[in-house]
Amino acid sequence: MHEFTFKNNQLYCENIRVSEIAKKVPTPFYLYSYKTLIDHYRKIKTAFREIKPLICFSVKSNSNLAVLRALVKNGAGLDIVSGGELYRARLAGADPKKIVYAGVGKKSDEIKDAIKFGILFFNVESEEELGEIQKAAASLNKKVNVAIRINPDVIPRTHAYITTGKGGTKFGLDFETVHKIFNWRWRYPNINIRGVHIHIGSQILDAAPFEKAIKKVLDFLKEYKIEIDYLNIGGGLGIIYSIENAQTANNFAKSVLPLLKKSGFKIIMEPGRFISGNSGILVTRVVYTKMTPRKKFLIVDSAMSDLIRPSLYEAYHKIIPVVVKEDSSETSETVDVVGPICESGDFLGKSRFLPRMVKGDLLAVMGAGAYGFTMSSNYNARPRAAEVLVIKNKFYVVRRPETYSDLVRGETIPSVLK
Ligand code: LLP
Repeated sequence: MHEFTFKNNQLYCENIRVSEIAKKVPTPFYLYSYKTLIDHYRKIKTAFREIKPLICFSVKSNSNLAVLRALVKNGAGLDIVSGGELYRARLAGADPKKIVYAGVGKKSDEIKDAIKFGILFFNVESEEELGEIQKAAASLNKKVNVAIRINPDVIPRTHAYITTGKGGTKFGLDFETVHKIFNWRWRYPNINIRGVHIHIGSQILDAAPFEKAIKKVLDFLKEYKIEIDYLNIGGGLGIIYSIENAQTANNFAKSVLPLLKKSGFKIIMEPGRFISGNSGILVTRVVYTKMTPRKKFLIVDSAMSDLIRPSLYEAYHKIIPVVVKEDSSETSETVDVVGPICESGDFLGKSRFLPRMVKGDLLAVMGAGAYGFTMSSNYNARPRAAEVLVIKNKFYVVRRPETYSDLVRGETIPSVLK
C-alpha cells in the first residue's frame, strides 16, 4: 500500500494534489510520501517484533537527507557503502551504533572516518580489507567490530545485475575463506569479529532463497563451532512494480523467523527498496507528442539520466496520468514514453496504453522511490531533478532542482587554453 491515490480523477500524494505541487515545483521532480516511507519501515519492524532486529535502511536506495532523517527519527539504523554515505548518515543525525558499512572497495580514509565516527560494524568483503581495517584500527589505537560477509552461493532468481549471493560475483567470501579467517582471528588484534553478513541480491520476491542462504550459514557456523553475536541477513525484499507476487513482510517473517529465533543471534536487516521503493514517484511533463509510421511517442522532460532502471535493467515502472480527463477511456492509445536524451535506450516505458496526452500534461512514474534519484546523473548536461517530501497536507522541497552552474561546479579551464 502507498499514499499515491486518486480522488476525483486527481492523483494525490497523501493529502495534496500532485498537480498543485507541479504548479510550484518545476518538472521533473521526485515526490516522496513520508507516511508510506514510515509505514513500510514499521511493517518490517512489526513483522519481526519478536526478535527486535536492528533495521538498517539501505542508504543507496534513497539517500536524501530528509528521507534518512525521517527514518532515523523513527528509530532506523543505516546500511552504508561509502564515505559519502557515511557523510550523509552523519548529517541525518544517525546513531553511529546503528550503522553498518558494506562494500567491496572501502578505502583506507573511508575506513578511518567510519572508525572515528564509531560505527557498529564493517561488513568485510575480503582478506585484504580485513588487513586494511586492522591497520587503520591500530593507527587509531582502537578495537573495531566487524562482520564477515559470506557469499552463500544461492540463486535468488532476480536480474543478473542485482544478484550478489551467487558464487562468481564479487561480493562476500566463500565458506572456506571465512573459516580460515575465523581460525586466524588472532592475526587481527585490533579487530573483534562479532558477526556474519549476507546480502544475496535485490528485488527477490519469495523467501526460499533467503531461507536457503540463512540455513547454509547457520549450518556452517555450527559445523565449525564459530562463535559470534550478530547475524546480518541483508536486504533484498522485492516489491510490486506491476503484477509481481511479492511477499509481504509478514510472510517473509513467517518463513525466516523460526530460523532466526532458533539461532539466538542478534539480527540485523538491511532493507532498502521495501521501505523506499513505493514511497516515491517521478513527476514529469509531456514536452511533445510525436507520431511516426510505426509508433507514437510521448517525449517527456525526464530521462534515463533521472531514472535509469528501465534502460539498465529493462525494469517496468507503471506510468499514469496525474489528472484523468473525462474522455480518457475513449482516447486511450499505445505509446512509448521516452526522454530527450540522444540514445534509443532512453525510455521510461514502452508500449504503454495511456489516455491521449497532449503537450504540457503531467505523468507519474510509479515505484521510483528506490534507486531513482540516487542513480541519476547529469548525462547530456541535464540538471538533476528536485526532490519533494510530502508530510500530510504540506510539501517540502528537500533538494532544489539543479541549475546550470551546478553542472560545471568544480570544473576549470587551464590557463594555457585561455
Ligand atoms: N545491503 C547491501 C549490502 C546491498 O548491497 C543492498 C543493495 C541492500 C542491502 C539493499 O537492497 P534492497 O533491499 O534495496 O534490495 N540498483 C538496483 C538495485 C541494486 C541493489 C544494490 N544493493 C535496482 O535499481 O534495482
